Amino acid sequence: MEMTPGNKIVLVGTGAVGTSYAYALMNQGLSNELVLVDINEDKAQGEVMDLSHGIVYAPSAMNITQGTYADCKDAAIVVICAGIAQKEGETRLDLVNKNVAIFKSMVESIMDAGFNGIFIVATNPVDILSYATWKFSQLPKERVIGSGTVLDSARFRFLLGQKFATAPASVHGYIIGEHGDSQLPVWSTANISGTSIAEKISAEEKTQIAEQVRNAAYEIISMKGATYYAIGMGLARITKAILNNEHIILPVGTLLTGEHGHEDVYVGVPSIIHRAGVKGVADFPLDETEQRKFASSIAILKDIQNQALL
Ligand code: LAC
Repeated sequence: MEMTPGNKIVLVGTGAVGTSYAYALMNQGLSNELVLVDINEDKAQGEVMDLSHGIVYAPSAMNITQGTYADCKDAAIVVICAGIAQKEGETRLDLVNKNVAIFKSMVESIMDAGFNGIFIVATNPVDILSYATWKFSQLPKERVIGSGTVLDSARFRFLLGQKFATAPASVHGYIIGEHGDSQLPVWSTANISGTSIAEKISAEEKTQIAEQVRNAAYEIISMKGATYYAIGMGLARITKAILNNEHIILPVGTLLTGEHGHEDVYVGVPSIIHRAGVKGVADFPLDETEQRKFASSIAILKDIQNQALL
């Protein structure tokens, strides 16, 4: 059956990440219809009212309402930000069993409502929960997209932009692998206007920047309790790429089907995004060290995935 057209979005989970995403959607005028779903109905309704009062200053109209999974029937995109959030000192993988159980119930209810669009998954551990969403929904892999390393790559580009006094948009480089502690920077191809970055900074600086990216969430959580603005922007960027049929390459979470010899795992890799979801994984050359770290990251995810989804 043809995928659902249009730009109606259902957001499941109106916590800090979900509402930051909703706020970004409204400010960028990306959708005409947004439905907020949350088990805390008062919270969802409060967010609907607060967001709606800003519409007058938004670039375009957006009808924002509170709803239920039934509203997913004619949704083009369902974005899942619901789940138990990471606490200080907790890794994303500590969350897995709690959130897999929540996802099974949630995704099956959304599919029972007749959803036939694209999932974007943000809840952590996002790679495991993206795989879980693909399994529980039985949708084609192209239509289940994780936020992957969209946020990590943004942090990477921001820090390099600061170092080289260059706009992050002109710093080209990816963090790939787990959205978590085993992620890795692809230094071998990171560049500014085609000039290799790896050859312009020391090994110590490379280690320092990689650590700053890897530890950013922990640092922010220790200071303000949670992260949400940048991930909200990343989710909006993925949404825009889908709705505008951009064919742009973003490091989203997608299912590997043989890339670099790996398969059956969701992980952040440069992927081509269009109106039907993930068109494919872009070629991304890795040197020997990067291959080894990528394999290690995938092994960590697969071990957790096998335990959690058996
Ligand atoms: C972070 C959360 C979104 O990396 O996992 O900030």
